Amino acid sequence: MTQLKAPGAGLGYLDPDMNSPASTATPSFTLETTVGAIVIAHPALARVFERLGINYCCGGKKPLAEACRAHGHDPESTLGQLHAAKAAGETLEQDIDCGAMTLTQLADHIEGTHHEYVKAELPRLVEMADRVARKHAWRDERLKEIGETVSLLADEMFNHMGKEEGILFPFVRQIEAGAADQFPCGSIANPIRQMEDEHDFATRAVARLRELSDGFKPDENACNTHRALLGGLEEFAADLQRHVHKENNILFPRTLALAGAA
Ligand SMILES: [Fe+2]
Ligand SMILES: [Fe+2]
Repeated sequence: MTQLKAPGAGLGYLDPDMNSPASTATPSFTLETTVGAIVIAHPALARVFERLGINYCCGGKKPLAEACRAHGHDPESTLGQLHAAKAAGETLEQDIDCGAMTLTQLADHIEGTHHEYVKAELPRLVEMADRVARKHAWRDERLKEIGETVSLLADEMFNHMGKEEGILFPFVRQIEAGAADQFPCGSIANPIRQMEDEHDFATRAVARLRELSDGFKPDENACNTHRALLGGLEEFAADLQRHVHKENNILFPRTLALAGAA
């Protein structure tokens, strides 16, 4: 069975530089800028981090130099790639300025894009992963763990998004509208910390899937369903990182700042 553990200890995750929407207007970045702040200011650069395998969502509080070293990349060379991509005007399909949105707009955007995508895509991936495991695990036993991990990930993601949509996001909208100043069950920091732990769990599940599939690369004997599964998982991994980035690095810090001010 999977080596994953259920969401556990808190991440202690808050970047003091990112508590204000004003910081999203930072025009340039250096090796000392956090990777989360770079993606907030320049969303299209998420693609460069994804290509390099640098985590900018749950790992978003790390300065660029530290994140590069942690993933085996030369910091100066990576900074050069980021500057070149920015100068070339690299774009992303959903290249929108989340840092400029109100919290309500951002919560609506996350639900309408990332949550809807997960709801449509994960059941399909679960079904394919199960089918591939049943038919082909005899020749690659890792397919069984892939099937189990996708299924566990789906359960966790649906449970997680239910809490965001049913409890946390409505409170975010209320507090921004001035209609609430205290979370019903204690500090708002507690459910936010719980959501961050669950993001960490999902991110580790996807990292495990990447490991079990040799970077989502099918072998020469893979059937069409197996290939479609790995393509879908690779796309899911990229979406998850953008989804978690918007919550961990923008929505949650700004909600905490607003709740503190209230
Ligand atoms: Fe979410
Ligand atoms: Fe979330």
